[in-house]
Amino acid sequence: MRTQVGIVGAGPAGLLLSHLLHRQGIESIIVENRSRDHIEARIRAGVMEHWVAELVDEIGMGARMRQEGLVHEGIEISFSGRRRRIDLKALTGGKSIVVYGQQEFVKDFVAARLAAGTPIHFEVGGVSVHDVEGDGPAIRFSDRDGAPQRIECDFIAGCDGFHGICRPAVPDLKIFERTYPFAWLGILAEAAPSSDELIYSSHDNGFALHSMRSPKLTRLYLQVAPDEDIARWPDDRVWEELQTRLTQDGDWRLNEGKVLQKGITPMRSFVCETMRHGMLFLAGDAAHIVPPTGAKGMNLAAADVLVLSRALAEFYASGATVALDAYPATCLARIWKAQRFSWWMTSMLHIFPDQDTFGRRIQLAEIDFITGNEAGARALAENYVGLPFDA
Ligand code: FAD
Ligand code: DHB
Repeated sequence: MRTQVGIVGAGPAGLLLSHLLHRQGIESIIVENRSRDHIEARIRAGVMEHWVAELVDEIGMGARMRQEGLVHEGIEISFSGRRRRIDLKALTGGKSIVVYGQQEFVKDFVAARLAAGTPIHFEVGGVSVHDVEGDGPAIRFSDRDGAPQRIECDFIAGCDGFHGICRPAVPDLKIFERTYPFAWLGILAEAAPSSDELIYSSHDNGFALHSMRSPKLTRLYLQVAPDEDIARWPDDRVWEELQTRLTQDGDWRLNEGKVLQKGITPMRSFVCETMRHGMLFLAGDAAHIVPPTGAKGMNLAAADVLVLSRALAEFYASGATVALDAYPATCLARIWKAQRFSWWMTSMLHIFPDQDTFGRRIQLAEIDFITGNEAGARALAENYVGLPFDA
C-alpha cells in the first residue's frame, strides 16, 4: 500500500488529522489495533474547548455535536460549604465549552473517514514503523486475518496514545514527568444531571466532579488512592461518598441512578521533547498526558494535529518545510501552558496524603481568592475555555 501520510491510531488525534488532511487534498491511511466497536464505546473525556467546537463546525462535522452536545457557559467550584460560579462566557468575551463525549466524537469521525473512502485498518497486530530517518518511511503490521502488510508513505503520524509504539521509536527523548498520589474513579450513571453545570468540588475527604453526557446521563468522578482496588467501591459506597463531597451547601442532593460503567484512571503529567524524528511526528497522548482536572487531554490532541495538518498542507503546496520544522516548538508552547493549568487545578482541588492542616487552609484560601476576584476567575476561565489558538 502507498499513501501520503500513514497514521498510527484512530483516537481523536488520528481521526481528526486524517479529516483535516483530506480537506487539503492529502491522502492518509489509518491503522488501529483495537476494533471499531471498542474505540466507539470507550468512555473518556467530555469537554471540548471553544475553538475545538468551532473547528468541528468549520470542517463540516458539527451536526450531531450541536444536536446532542451540551453548551456550558459556566462551571461551579465547591469548597468550604459553598459554591462559586465561574461565568466562562462573561469572563472570556463570549466563549463557552461543549460537553460531548469523546466516544461520540470518535463515532462521528470514523463514519466520516470511511464514507470519504479513507482506509481504516482495525484490529491490526504487531504495528512497527521503519526508515523514518529517510524519505521513504513505512508502517508494517499484520491485518485482521494475520496477513503481513506494509504502508509506504511520505510521513508517519504517531497518534497511538500513551502506550503506543511510535514514541519509543524516537531516540534520545527528554521526558518530563510527574505522577500524583491519587487516581480518579469515574462512573457513568443513568440519572439526570443534578445541576445544569459542571461542579468541581474540593472536600476534606478528597476531590469530586459532577459532569454529564445528556439530560439523562450523569458522569461523576471521585479522587481515590492511586492503587485503589475497584472492588472496594461498590455502587452504594460510590454514591455515599459523592453525596458527601458534592453536597456541601444546604439542601442540594445528587440524583442517583443505575451505574452503567465504572473505572479508575491514574493521574499523570508527562511531556516528551521532542515530538519529531525524521519523518515521524508524534501527536496527542503519544507525546503528552495531562491530569484530567483541567479537561485538556482531547483538546491538546486536537491542537497538535491542527498544527501538523497545516504544516503538511504547506509542504505539499510549496515544498516548504518551515512549519514542519517548527512543529515541536509550536506545539510545546501550548502543551506546557495546558500542563501548567492542569497541574494547578489538580494541586488546588485535590487532597494530598502528606498535606497537613496548614496546607489545607492555604489551599482553601487559594480557591477562595481565585474564585472570589475577577482577575483570578478570568485567568481560570480563559484557560478552561482554551487559550487562543495562536497564543
Ligand atoms: P487515544 O485516544 O489514546 O488514541 C490512540 C489510539 O491508538 C487508540 O485508539 C489506540 O487503541 C490506538 N493504538 C494504541 N497503540 C496502537 C498500536 N500499536 N497500533 C495501532 N493503534 C494503536 N481527558 C480528559 O480531559 N478528561 C477525562 O476525563 C479523561 N479521561 C480519560 C480516561 C482514560 C481511561 C484515558 C486513557 C484518558 C482519559 N482522558 C481524559 C484523556 C483523553 O481521553 C486523551 O487525551 C485523548 O484520548 C487523546 O487522544 P489521542 O488520539 O491522542 O489518543
Ligand atoms: C469531564 C472530564 C474531565 O476530566 C473534566 O475536567 C470535566 C469533565 C467529563 O468526563 O465530563
